[in-house]
Amino acid sequence: MEKRLTITVDGPAGSGKSTVSRILAERISYMYLDTGLLYRAIAYKAMQRGISIADDEALRELCDGINIPLEADGDMRVLVDGEDVSGPDFIGTRTEEIGMLASSISAVSAVRDALLPLQRSAGEHGGIVTEGRDMGTVVFPNADVKFFLDADVDERARRRYEQLVENGGNANLDEVKRGLETRDYRDTRRAVAPLKPADDSVIIDTTGIDIEEVVRMMMVIVKERAKGVGAG
Ligand code: DC
Repeated sequence: MEKRLTITVDGPAGSGKSTVSRILAERISYMYLDTGLLYRAIAYKAMQRGISIADDEALRELCDGINIPLEADGDMRVLVDGEDVSGPDFIGTRTEEIGMLASSISAVSAVRDALLPLQRSAGEHGGIVTEGRDMGTVVFPNADVKFFLDADVDERARRRYEQLVENGGNANLDEVKRGLETRDYRDTRRAVAPLKPADDSVIIDTTGIDIEEVVRMMMVIVKERAKGVGAG
């Protein structure tokens, strides 16, 4: 592809955005940035250190300790005070409990302000697929291609449940669904950078569509944009 694009993928938990973003990045040899992991890293450390979500100063200090070293293979790593909290074997940041705390912490302005420049500098040269809740609206408002993925809450709960079981965790489908609904509510209603599609995003409802098909749909749009052919 001719131009190194900035591609954003936003959507609620369980919409499939992490899986498809990673595959898309791999296929086009772009860097992959999972911004949910940054909020999860802060949540994980805050829990370990007993830091309250009301303690803006301590949370900001945690953010200052975050580092995203760029990997040659395009894989993303997140270090907090030198500790790698992102490896495939590191499940501490991937639990539902930490997802829920990350959702609360992500509503704190001091945290969002501190993480903003970090995310922008990771994407400043393009050639990146970046996923989260506010990629197309706040972090990369001038992105070349913006996707918003969504899916029916029952399907999202089922996917999330399967993922948790696959990772060796204990999970209950009803609880997972209730957790997703709570997070959706919080992430869409918060005052700062709430989850919503950017006006110029391509919205894909992934309910009943398999991953390969979603990636294929995205690739068509990405290739058109890379050639400078507008796709809507
Ligand atoms: O995508 P995820 O489940 O790993 O994200 C965890 C939480 O982090 C999510 O509930 C809301 C928050 N988040 C955010 O506010 N903004 C982002 N760009 C990414 C995640």
